[in-house]
Amino acid sequence: MPDPIAIRRKLLEWYKRNARALPWRGESDPYRVWVSEVMLQQTQVETVIPYYQRWLEEFPTLVDLASADEQEVLRAWEGLGYYSRARNLLKSAKIICEEFEGELPRDSSQLRKLPGIGDYIAGAIASIAYGQRQPALDGNGKRVLARLYAYDKPVNLEKNASDLKRILADLLPEHQAGDFNQALMDLGSRVCLPRRPKCGDCPLQFECKANGRGL
Ligand code: ADE
Repeated sequence: MPDPIAIRRKLLEWYKRNARALPWRGESDPYRVWVSEVMLQQTQVETVIPYYQRWLEEFPTLVDLASADEQEVLRAWEGLGYYSRARNLLKSAKIICEEFEGELPRDSSQLRKLPGIGDYIAGAIASIAYGQRQPALDGNGKRVLARLYAYDKPVNLEKNASDLKRILADLLPEHQAGDFNQALMDLGSRVCLPRRPKCGDCPLQFECKANGRGL
């Protein structure tokens, strides 16, 4: 079995040296984490960066967003696609102002009730902004975990993704769960690539079941 203690140490160490310098990294303002994760959910990092920066100039806080009108919000989103993401950001911002005194809830089950916030975004906000030990697993992270544990069922099926989410929930360190979640995604996007994984560059090479079995 891959050793959780070794995995935590090696992956966090790798992340410290290799984390991508992105404008939302090191950010613990829950509103900023939320906006960045919503943009990143269906859009590439390079595309998101200028949109994220302009968005925060136009709507620097959640209260600013909540008082904007939909046309302004859609204009700021123009070009990013999947416009329901922008409409949901606005709807949720209004609800958060009315029901939660303008602060994103800490509780992930309350987060998940807000329009546009699913499992992934709720986990990302809870772990990255609020430091909670909650999994946030995207497609890159799923691939890394599937290989690490030689999990060979299709991970695009929800019931199998749930297995991986449970594995991640157990694997998360007590502190730095947000870093760990992001490290897993970065490893997937830069090292543990879909077709030609760079196993020689991987900090988890010797923990990885797939690697050990030559899969
Ligand atoms: N993809 C979406 N959100 C991410 C994050 N916070 N870090 C790395 N990759 C991501």
